[in-house]
Amino acid sequence: MSQLPVPQHIAIIMDGNGRWAARRGLSRSEGHQAGAEPLRALLTAARKAGVKYLTLYAFSTENWGRPEEEVRGLFELLSKYLKSELDELLATGVRLMAIGELEDLPPLAAEALRSALEASADNRGLTLTLALSYGSRAELTRAARLLAAEAAAGRLDPRKIDEQALEDRLWTAGQPAPDLLIRTGGDMRLSNFLLWQCAYAEFYFTPTLWPDFGPEDFEAALASYRRRERRFGLAESPGLPTAAAD
Ligand code: FPP
Repeated sequence: MSQLPVPQHIAIIMDGNGRWAARRGLSRSEGHQAGAEPLRALLTAARKAGVKYLTLYAFSTENWGRPEEEVRGLFELLSKYLKSELDELLATGVRLMAIGELEDLPPLAAEALRSALEASADNRGLTLTLALSYGSRAELTRAARLLAAEAAAGRLDPRKIDEQALEDRLWTAGQPAPDLLIRTGGDMRLSNFLLWQCAYAEFYFTPTLWPDFGPEDFEAALASYRRRERRFGLAESPGLPTAAAD
């Protein structure tokens, strides 16, 4: 049996719902609804491939600037998704996590999220992290504020602040950095997503619009990742996590 490198952590920027809808004469909210469709097959494919962490950019800090109706629709969709998919998530051992300014979420979405987080907290399968009201700059600024407050209170020696100290104060603390970042929709940028964490991630950009992203697109991203050589700034590859191919 051959051994293939498997990304332990995949982060995805799910872009293109609006264009998908416009091409069909549908509303942006209908595009987002279609954007929830690929998630079940994606989770199955990720679990089968041996991926341990999947982080999805579901709502950015910048997305608050979208029309009120679209924002409301997105959070209604999130609540609906969490309720309708919870049994499936639990049955497949998924542990749900969330990163971002969660205190800003509308009450119904916050409540649906809270109960899904609680129900799946003891699961030990794939960790599915939803980035909600997430911005990487806000995350880094918050970490700096926390460090400064601890130093000012005399609980932290400023000379001891190292990369780990900052990382421990990110919303993603305790999670490995993404190995692979996928962005759909054709744009090639990070859009304020996991800037610190993606320092050594491999990037995979595809023109496929998010609602059309299926298991074959996921497999194409994995195949592209397998062809990369990751050196982390070293002369040679330091050795990578592998999983048995099935
Ligand atoms: C970007 O597409 C997508 C978003 C801002 C929202 C992502 C949300 C989903 C995929 C819905 C399902 C998610 C969950 C967790 C239930 P865009 O609107 O910017 O597309 P465009 O660039 O074509 O306008």
